[in-house]
Amino acid sequence: MPEAVTMDKIVSLARRRGFVFPSSEIYGGLGSSYDYGHYGVLLKENVKARWLEAMVRERDDIVALDSSIILHPAVWEASGHVTGFADPLVDCRFCKRRYRADQIADAECGARPSKHPGETDKCDLTEPRQFNLMFQTRIGPVEETGQDAYLRPETAQGIFINFKNVAQIARRKPPFGIAQIGKAFRNEITPGNFIFRTLEFEQMEMEYFVPPAEAEEWFRFWVEERRAWHLRYGIRESHLRVREHDAEELSHYSSATSDLEYLFPMGWSELEGIAHRGDFDLRAHTEASGTKLEWVDGQERYTPHVVEPALGVNRSMLAFMVDAYDEEVVAERERTVLRLHPALAPVKVAVLPLIPRNDDMVAKGRALYEELRRAVVAEYDDSGQIGRRYRRQDEIGTPYALTIDEQTLEDDTVTIRDRDSLAQERIPISGARAFVQDKLGEDWKTPKPS
Ligand code: GAP
Repeated sequence: MPEAVTMDKIVSLARRRGFVFPSSEIYGGLGSSYDYGHYGVLLKENVKARWLEAMVRERDDIVALDSSIILHPAVWEASGHVTGFADPLVDCRFCKRRYRADQIADAECGARPSKHPGETDKCDLTEPRQFNLMFQTRIGPVEETGQDAYLRPETAQGIFINFKNVAQIARRKPPFGIAQIGKAFRNEITPGNFIFRTLEFEQMEMEYFVPPAEAEEWFRFWVEERRAWHLRYGIRESHLRVREHDAEELSHYSSATSDLEYLFPMGWSELEGIAHRGDFDLRAHTEASGTKLEWVDGQERYTPHVVEPALGVNRSMLAFMVDAYDEEVVAERERTVLRLHPALAPVKVAVLPLIPRNDDMVAKGRALYEELRRAVVAEYDDSGQIGRRYRRQDEIGTPYALTIDEQTLEDDTVTIRDRDSLAQERIPISGARAFVQDKLGEDWKTPKPS
């Protein structure tokens, strides 16, 4: 029986295969910060592409936006983030550690890790104080005359303040949406669980502007729609659930929120939030800026309500990796495989000459690779034993491997190996590109049991 997927296994694979590295490692690392290597970048790009496809390309009512990371500081006053986007923190005067007041029961005491903070006479905790999660910076070269500014803690506000531009210029009538992917920054102090919670991350957010009377209905629609997206790209149904926030949990802007939770190795945790933001944001920016952010069409005039699905790219990538991770014993040998949806897999096909020293195999392999790479992300590998090369492709989640062998030199056929079933088939080299493209276009369901 394969063991359960642990975060350590994911971290180890991510590092071993160059998906994710600890940030600033040669300087001892920086907590809750990570750098993404080649396969991490490709996987992240695929997650973003699938999201954008579902939001913008497959729909007629959503347009894209890319707003600034640093916005006018008044935006964050109006949005409520300057006063409301804070965690209650307590400091220990003894060990100098800082804890979230609402998570003390799960935290370790700095002096005696087997105890919780406050449980030993080595603890001297302050009263809880509100700590704002926004990173502050200054605009301008001179400290004294510069202007305070913030790195955005969510991409959403850039969308609200562009409501009028988009509604007028893109000629959109509610219900319509604006989708944005971009970096966000939060001064998080809770330990991160790898890339689950980091200081810097990417968000994929869509603000859907609707007539107030339709808001409830659209809220329910987007909860279902977003749930279906995760399932479509391979998350097992048994590992995804919807959880409604109760009144105390709701953010300062929200009148209802449902989280899509995923069963991460550390337990059920938020993957994506779908919030019913009402008219909070458009009203707040209207009042603060003096610009009316409302829908006007002849006699019709109202402030639209907003439904917002918000997902972290990095967190989504982590969920896909965890869900895809598998270990099995094949012919008495263990293999680790990432059973990623082919549309997410960083590399779609690998070309492997069986005997790297054989010039004819290498020449055929390279020619096939050159042809394939024009159509899909392909990799050529002629280093080391074939078994090791297969294992490497399995661990990065490559769905297909094409092997050039003795028979290829005789009849111009290659074997195609399926990552999940390990089935091998012989196909003509001339049809390999079309064959792979057809395979990649087929419906896919994870072979992992629920
Ligand atoms: N505009 C609403 C908003 O930002 P949120 O629940 O705070 O809502 C949305 O964030 C999503 O962004 C989360 O569901 C999560 O996927 C991701 N996210 C939030 N904070 C994060 C962090 N520190 N590191 C990684 N991802 C994060």
